[in-house]
Amino acid sequence: MKLAVIGCGYVGLVSGSCLAEAGHEVIATDNDASKIATLQAGKIPIYEPSLDKVLETVVREGRLRFTANGGEAVRESDVVFICVGTPPTDTGDADLSAIDSVARMIARESRTPKLVIEKSTVPAQTGDQLKRALQVYATNAGAKFRVASNPEFLREGTAVEDFFHPDRIVVGVEDKESEQELREIYAPILQGRFRCPVHLPNCPPAPTPDFVVTTIASAELIKHASNSFLGLKISYANVLADLCEHLGGNVEEVTRAVGLDPRIGGQFLKAGLGFGGFCLPKDIQAFISLAERAGIDFGLLKEAERVNRQRVDLLLDKVKKALWVMKGKQIGVLGIAFKPNTDDIRLAPAIEVIRRLLAEGAVVRATDPEAMERARGVFPDLAYSADPYEVARGADALLVLTEWEQFRRLDWKRVRSEMARPLVVDGRNMLRPAEMKALGFEYMSFGRPEKAVATPAS
Ligand code: UGA
Repeated sequence: MKLAVIGCGYVGLVSGSCLAEAGHEVIATDNDASKIATLQAGKIPIYEPSLDKVLETVVREGRLRFTANGGEAVRESDVVFICVGTPPTDTGDADLSAIDSVARMIARESRTPKLVIEKSTVPAQTGDQLKRALQVYATNAGAKFRVASNPEFLREGTAVEDFFHPDRIVVGVEDKESEQELREIYAPILQGRFRCPVHLPNCPPAPTPDFVVTTIASAELIKHASNSFLGLKISYANVLADLCEHLGGNVEEVTRAVGLDPRIGGQFLKAGLGFGGFCLPKDIQAFISLAERAGIDFGLLKEAERVNRQRVDLLLDKVKKALWVMKGKQIGVLGIAFKPNTDDIRLAPAIEVIRRLLAEGAVVRATDPEAMERARGVFPDLAYSADPYEVARGADALLVLTEWEQFRRLDWKRVRSEMARPLVVDGRNMLRPAEMKALGFEYMSFGRPEKAVATPAS
């Protein structure tokens, strides 16, 4: 099938590359001409494991090409995926101006019938607006549009694997023809033709995903409802951690046992510094706002958001309690990205932690395996080092803000010997309290008080 992907951000780039790998002919476009030039030169503007391999293959084999000319991409395809950004406005609503301008461009450029699919995360009822815009702005009699919603559930850091091995593919459609076309687009994935992880041999085939057919409004709601529920779970675990600190339990023991109930599930119950990134925080905000406009007070989500915002305060309280005066103290930061295996620092809790440390006059030195380049855009004058031991050197405290595997595997005995004061505040419960204590560290984490039975970190 000939597919156009409009928007070469995170979702568009991964979806476009993987759809090409699945056997389709894809033409991808973006209104940022410099991004297209970068991609045409064979460079990838984001760090995402395995994406380079997939992209290199599909471009070399001519299954994916990039153009800065959106009209060309639209005219040459039967199906158009809209993958543009929907960032938050000041009110927390999703900014849909990019969707609007892409809709007008598709309408203007189309000469033949198209299936237009919203893949960007959008509030319910966007599909109706999209359909209207396509009809109103169409300039050619041959341009007929069907609209569908096909939300994305990719996680940064494992996006390529998630694309080929999703647990569900959700399609919101208005007619059988659109459903059939989407089934064909995803046929290779529904047939489980890809092994896991994509480019590594000898992995068992992944289970076949559910193909869920709904109305367009339901599909739009499913995306917001999923991300919001994940945020709820994390905030719940975080309040449990706070309780454990006061009552002497160990949050890892509690969440592990609670999560063994299949009605609850063990994932997304990891306590610590809370959720960041450009999806969970912004989607929860947008969902609260959407509900408000429908006259529904989604207090449950507001509370999850409040709990999440408080995590940075709690971490800083721990640091201050130990260090007393912050001014002039040397603080090492391990991890800037909002989670491991990505260079994404958007709404990363670490960014807020660093901002607040600097505001209090602390001297900060930071490291991250992938995110330092992006962090330089936010804190150009901060001291950075690719070497975690250098970050520890002379430090009064070391903060773990992203649980990269590289940090877990450090020689912590050596780290201790580098530090001026062996204080570690672990915002991600990455290390084992008993081991850190045995190495002579003053060690603090979330919900794992010393008098509770020490359980190994997962
Ligand atoms: C999230 C969803 O998980 C994806 O399904 C969705 O497709 C994506 O948003 C999106 O809307 O595009 P992502 O933003 O990549 O994916 O990140 P997550 O893996 O969900 O993690 C979000 C944050 O929660 C991270 O800061 C992570 O450190 C934190 N987290 C996660 C916890 O604090 N505890 C946990 O138990 C799990």
